[in-house]
Amino acid sequence: MQIGIPTETRAGEARVAATPETVKKYVAQGHKIVVQAGAGLRASQPDGAYEAAGATIGTAADALAAPLVLKVRAPDTDELAQMKPGAVLVGMLNPFDTENNARMSAAGITAFALEAAPRTTRAQSMDVLSSQANIAGYKAVLVAAHHYQRFMPMLMTAAGTVKAARVLILGAGVAGLQAIATAKRLGAVIEASDVRPAVKEQIESLGGKFLDVPFVTDEEREIAQGVGGYARPMPPDWMKRQAELVHQRAIQADIVITTALIPGRKAPVLLHEATVQQMKPGSVVVDLAAAQGGNCPLTVADEVVERHGVILIGHTNLASMVAADASALYARNVLDFLKLVIDKEGQFTLNLEDDIVAACLMTRREQAALAG
Ligand code: NAI
Repeated sequence: MQIGIPTETRAGEARVAATPETVKKYVAQGHKIVVQAGAGLRASQPDGAYEAAGATIGTAADALAAPLVLKVRAPDTDELAQMKPGAVLVGMLNPFDTENNARMSAAGITAFALEAAPRTTRAQSMDVLSSQANIAGYKAVLVAAHHYQRFMPMLMTAAGTVKAARVLILGAGVAGLQAIATAKRLGAVIEASDVRPAVKEQIESLGGKFLDVPFVTDEEREIAQGVGGYARPMPPDWMKRQAELVHQRAIQADIVITTALIPGRKAPVLLHEATVQQMKPGSVVVDLAAAQGGNCPLTVADEVVERHGVILIGHTNLASMVAADASALYARNVLDFLKLVIDKEGQFTLNLEDDIVAACLMTRREQAALAG
C-alpha cells in the first residue's frame, strides 16, 4: 500500500507522523512510502534519513494523494482538497471538532482520530494522549524554569543559601505526573492535587505531597472516580473547597503547573484571578489547559503574559517543542495502530468489532457518516 507523509502545515507544529525508524518498518512490511521533502526537518529528521530507510521524497501533492495518509494534526481545507476520496487518514484529528469531522466526511475520507482510543491495556502502545502529554508535562517544567528568575534546587554557597522552589501541580494525570517527576529531578519541593483519589499514591511515590480535598457527599466521591480514566466535572461545592485550598497553597508557591482537563469540555477553572493577585512577584504559571480555555482565566493561549507580577505561560503545543522525541513516540503509536487496520496482504481492512478501531473511526467513505 502507498503511504504518504506530508509536512505539517499548522503554525507551530514541528512534529511529523513517521520517522525513519517507522518508515523502515513499513517498507519491510511491503509498503511504499512517500515523504514530502522537508517533512521531518523540524523534528531533526532530514530527507536523506528517510531515503536511507527506503522512502521516496516527493511533493505535498504526492504525499497527500496516497491511499493512506499519516498526519499529526487534522488536514486543513487545502490539504483535504488534495486527498483522494476513499483515502484513509490517521492522525490526532480532534474527535470533538464536529466541523472538521463534517469536512472529512464530505471529502469522502475514512478518518481515524487516535485521541479517541480507549484507555485500555491493549491500546496503551497507541495512546497518543499519553505519549504527548508525558512530553508536555516534562517541557512545562523546563519552560517554567526558564522564566523563573530563581534557582529550582536548594543551594548552599559561599555567598549564602538559596531556597528550593515550591512547585504546585494541579491535575496529576499523565502530564502532571511527569511534571512532578521532572520538577523533583531539578530539586523543587512539590505539592499536587487531582479529583481522582487514586493518584495520591502515584504523587507520593514521585516525591510530591498530595493535597487532599476531602469528599463530604457520596455524590462527590462517585463523580471523582471519573469514567474510563477521565475526570468528570466536580460539583460546585467541591470545586469551591478545592479553590480555597489551591488559593492557600498557590500563594506560597513559586511555580504552578496546571494540567486539569475534562475531555470534550472547557477546562475547569482552578486558579482564580484573586489567587494570582496574591501570588509572589516573579511566580510562574504554566497552563497546559490553555487550548481548552485554560485552568486560569488570565492565561492567553499561545502567549506569555504578565499579570499582577506573575508570568502566565499559555503554550498550547508543548510536545511540539520537543519535536524529535515527540515525533518518535507518536510515529510508534501510529505504527501500532496501523496493525489493526492493515491485513496480512498489506491492504486496508475495517474491523468494527475491534473496540480501538471502532472508537477511533470518525468518518468512513461508504456511509460518509459520523461515528461516535
Ligand atoms: P487528562 O489529560 O484528561 O486530565 C489531566 C488530569 O486532570 C486528570 O488526572 C484529571 O483527573 C485531572 N482533573 C480534571 N479535573 C480536575 C479538577 N477539577 N481538579 C483537579 N484535577 C482535575 O487525563 P490524562 O492525563 O490523559 O489521564 C488520566 C488518567 O487516565 C491517568 O492518570 C490514568 O489513570 C488513565 N490512563 C490510563 C491509560 C491506560 O490504561 N491505557 C493510559 C493513560 C492514562
